[in-house]
Amino acid sequence: MIIRECREDDLSLLEHHIPSGRTRIHEARFHRQQQGLSTFLTAWIDFVPVGHGEIRWRGCAAAEVRERYANCPELNGLAVWPPERQSHGIGTAIIHAAEATAAQRGDHHIGLGVDDHNLRAAALYLRLGY
Ligand SMILES: CC(C)(COP(=O)(O)OP(=O)(O)OC[C@H]1O[C@@H](n2cnc3c(N)ncnc32)[C@H](O)[C@@H]1OP(=O)(O)O)[C@@H](O)C(=O)NCCC(=O)NCCS
Repeated sequence: MIIRECREDDLSLLEHHIPSGRTRIHEARFHRQQQGLSTFLTAWIDFVPVGHGEIRWRGCAAAEVRERYANCPELNGLAVWPPERQSHGIGTAIIHAAEATAAQRGDHHIGLGVDDHNLRAAALYLRLGY
């Protein structure tokens, strides 16, 4: 597996294999990366995208979170797709890649949020020390 920053010519493959529908979220994430606001990490197996996560360097979009965790980049939009690919370590690898990317920039903290009902993802984050 390879985990690397998204490139413009990845967008059609991302949309094909991990459809975002009308949200066009891959494009939006790539656009933020182009603006220097984020790093959009993509995971690939045999040239097929299987997951992604976006490090938002300015932190969470919610002001109350930014207030409490100032200067803390956020790992957003973490997903592994299709579901058969989940539970094989890809999500963990993306999280570790995000941590390494942040550390290279001198950011030694990174945060993330998870829905109250997403117990499996929450358990994973807790295991990893979040
Ligand atoms: C949450 C998510 C990103 C985690 O990614 P993942 O690739 O499934 O996570 P990992 O495989 O690294 O770790 C999760 C599980 O796999 C297990 N695992 C890790 N490496 C493994 C391996 N090599 N072999 C077998 N199992 C492994 C872990 O113990 C863990 O167990 P669980 O299935 O009981 O949770 C992914 O499941 C997903 O996209 N879920 C839907 C979207 C979502 O909820 N996103 C998060 C929003 S905050």
